[in-house]
Amino acid sequence: MPSERQTLLTSYLQRILTAKVYDVARETELDPARSLSARLGNQVLLKREDNQPVFSFKLRGAYNKMAHLTAEQLARGVICASAGNHAQGVALGSKRLGCRAVIVMPETTPRVKVDAVRALGGEVVLVGESYNDAYDHAMQLAEVEGLTFVHPFDDPLVIAGQGTIGMEILRQHQGPIDAVFVAIGGGGLISGVAAYLKAVRPEIRVIGVQTVDSDAMLQSVRAGHRVRLNDVGLFADGTAVKFVGEETFRVARELVDEFIVVDTDAVCAAMKDVFQDTRAILEPSGALSVAAVKQYVAREGCTGKTFVAITCGANMNFDRLRFVAERADVGEEREALFAVTIPEERGSFKRFCELIGPRSVTEFNYRISDERRAHIFVGLSTSRRGESAQIGDLFATQGFAALDLTHDELAKAHLRHLVGGRSDLAVNERLFRFVFPERPGALMRFLSSMHPDWNISLFHYRNQGADYGRILVGIQVPDADGSAFQQFLDTLAYPCVDETDNPVYRLFLR
Ligand SMILES: Cc1ncc(COP(=O)(O)O)c(C=O)c1O
Repeated sequence: MPSERQTLLTSYLQRILTAKVYDVARETELDPARSLSARLGNQVLLKREDNQPVFSFKLRGAYNKMAHLTAEQLARGVICASAGNHAQGVALGSKRLGCRAVIVMPETTPRVKVDAVRALGGEVVLVGESYNDAYDHAMQLAEVEGLTFVHPFDDPLVIAGQGTIGMEILRQHQGPIDAVFVAIGGGGLISGVAAYLKAVRPEIRVIGVQTVDSDAMLQSVRAGHRVRLNDVGLFADGTAVKFVGEETFRVARELVDEFIVVDTDAVCAAMKDVFQDTRAILEPSGALSVAAVKQYVAREGCTGKTFVAITCGANMNFDRLRFVAERADVGEEREALFAVTIPEERGSFKRFCELIGPRSVTEFNYRISDERRAHIFVGLSTSRRGESAQIGDLFATQGFAALDLTHDELAKAHLRHLVGGRSDLAVNERLFRFVFPERPGALMRFLSSMHPDWNISLFHYRNQGADYGRILVGIQVPDADGSAFQQFLDTLAYPCVDETDNPVYRLFLR
């Protein structure tokens, strides 16, 4: 009698080998990530599903399901509920098969996604506020109009379609593979890939990856039954699933060797790594696997291994890049953030700056608020993981109380933008914007060229990745010093704009 596992493997192997996906999907590249591999001391291969025609793997499963429908079912058409990659997969598949596809999306779906599905010939129905509303409506419509529901993950044919990725990986790399890292949402992708790998090369570890705030599969496997999450984080929207599938749970709990959870900053850092190696911009879910490879290598301290990371999607709004770039350095631990308290006295600002001197300053925010002490929000570039703790110690030994904010979400998302405000202490304050070429040490040179006699009452600088650094400085200049101050400005090597009379300064900072 074959075991239950054996029966599962055999049935999926057969389904995967007979899956129909190549009418719409292409065999994507298995590309070495050269600089990431060199950095990690292990070979990292990227399975480039972000290069599919709709920029994700989802069309494999959707098409396989649709290609197995009878002529009669196809004549009636298909329906799905999705605002994401599955919607585009179903729409593309229906175009190829010449059938009707109704795609139910929440009313809140961004216009670009609605347009992308319409451009592929999908009939979009906008309903409700959430995926659940869209799902309920799609089920009703399916019943009333006799349409076939194409599930995004919980269907053996969808799973088998995604499993063709496993088949390609083994064909493309016949040498040793130590582990394959796979993002999990509802679990269709990992179920298919794990089924193929475990049937053919059972020694390869299959590692499932979720985000810390969307780990329904991990929680379900731990609990031994499917756990429904109340809320999921939406940054990695492709994998933000509250309730995994029944079939995907059955397959994943049997075949997945290990689960790794990664946080938002690590995902942003992984997006940057992939960009540096390939010049491609993944969507967050698409980079989960790469973030997990890095975490695994750091944990195991291994070298010389071969890992495959499935880069499973690239559907991202351009606007999000701003956030990703901001957080990538923190995720890589290339930037450490601190709140430092220094005495509010002449010279202490400079002394503090000398202390951090050789490091590149990435951010510097300060507003006068206390007669005795000044609180500075400062970002410094670091070159190693764990360096922030060392810098914190250095501050402490020099008598500057410091709070390490490198991992503080409140500080990173909000407080850095809120430092400032009105201050009763800012008498005789004048406000200037300066621009200087963004080169290492440029901010420090600017600071040391400031006249030591005038107190700095406000300072804002953030390295924004541009060629020029922009800073905003409030300086307290007694009326009697007016002409001396003008002379100082005239001799300064940096262009500057006097903003003292800008109404917005008066509204928010005076
Ligand atoms: C880019 C991307 N990655 C991963 C997933 C998760 O796939 P699954 O739901 O099959 O686990 C999805 C699902 O839509 C996705 O779009």
